[in-house]
Amino acid sequence: MRARLLNIGLLALSVIVMSCKQNGPITMNLYYTGQNGSALKFVQEMESTGTADAIRQEEGNLRYEYFISQDQPETVLLIDSWASQEALDAHHATPMMQTIASLREKYDLTMRAERYHRADEDLTAADQIFIRTKTDKMSKSIVLFFSHAGDNYSVGNVEVGNTKIVADYITDIIGADQFEIVTHKYDGMAYTPLIELAKKEAADGELPPYEGKAPDLTAYDTVFIGGPVWWGTYPQVMFTLFKDINLDGKTVIPFTTHEGSGLASCASDVKKKFPKANVTQGFSIYGHEVRSGKAKVEKWLKSL
Ligand SMILES: Cc1cc2nc3c(=O)[nH]c(=O)nc-3n(C[C@H](O)[C@H](O)[C@H](O)COP(=O)(O)O)c2cc1C
Repeated sequence: MRARLLNIGLLALSVIVMSCKQNGPITMNLYYTGQNGSALKFVQEMESTGTADAIRQEEGNLRYEYFISQDQPETVLLIDSWASQEALDAHHATPMMQTIASLREKYDLTMRAERYHRADEDLTAADQIFIRTKTDKMSKSIVLFFSHAGDNYSVGNVEVGNTKIVADYITDIIGADQFEIVTHKYDGMAYTPLIELAKKEAADGELPPYEGKAPDLTAYDTVFIGGPVWWGTYPQVMFTLFKDINLDGKTVIPFTTHEGSGLASCASDVKKKFPKANVTQGFSIYGHEVRSGKAKVEKWLKSL
């Protein structure tokens, strides 16, 4: 297919090659062709009715995005990526497939499909030179985070805290550096006394010290800030670090792990602390979900 596609974001994902591999992410390229703009109307209905968004929310969906061909205006390309064959099979078993089939009938569309296994890991160094992805733009990134290992809500007594798992995913996926905010103040505490102590710290505006020195952030243009939600915001020790760093002019990406509060006031509190930073919307994930949640984190990073 030699069509030049309008959305240049395709370049990043087009680096997929035919392969016999059975494991790993799968990408379907689906070409919908109609007449008198019907393919575009089909896409508009998929989007306006929330059907496309509902698919994007399905477990294991990495991408569900439409592109318009410049050379073939009656054709729309859907790039549909899934974390695994199991995720794709589960999608095919949903009632959503009937909705899509009915819409295809309604708009009288023909289809052509190509199936790919992603093989980014097979790219040679020579390939890499020509590829400029969105994540390259975040190459000077660092993840600052706090995470409490030990007794916690929903996950029990864990050796690695929930937020650290997410911080490690980010580091792994985009190749960022890391700075972990460490305090031994809460070591070995059971959940109930910990929440009481954290409540008092927040009420008193206490700033517990962290180990070591604040990192030098001069070289970084993107700073991820992550922590658990404790009583509606980040733990106080993170605010201790905040007073020691300068994020003016940097892109700041807050994230949280939580058990129901989402981002709570974490992103807005970061905005207040760093009014001259470009603080983005942020990302949150349930703490009890993180151990099986790498695909969700990857999907979020790709959307940045
Ligand atoms: C002291 C304390 C306070 C918490 N407060 C909240 C809260 O206000 N809202 C919420 O959704 N979860 C709350 N949680 C749950 C944590 O945000 C959640 O378990 C998180 O994933 C823990 O991450 P960590 O393992 O990285 O510390 C609280 C947990 C603790 C220990």
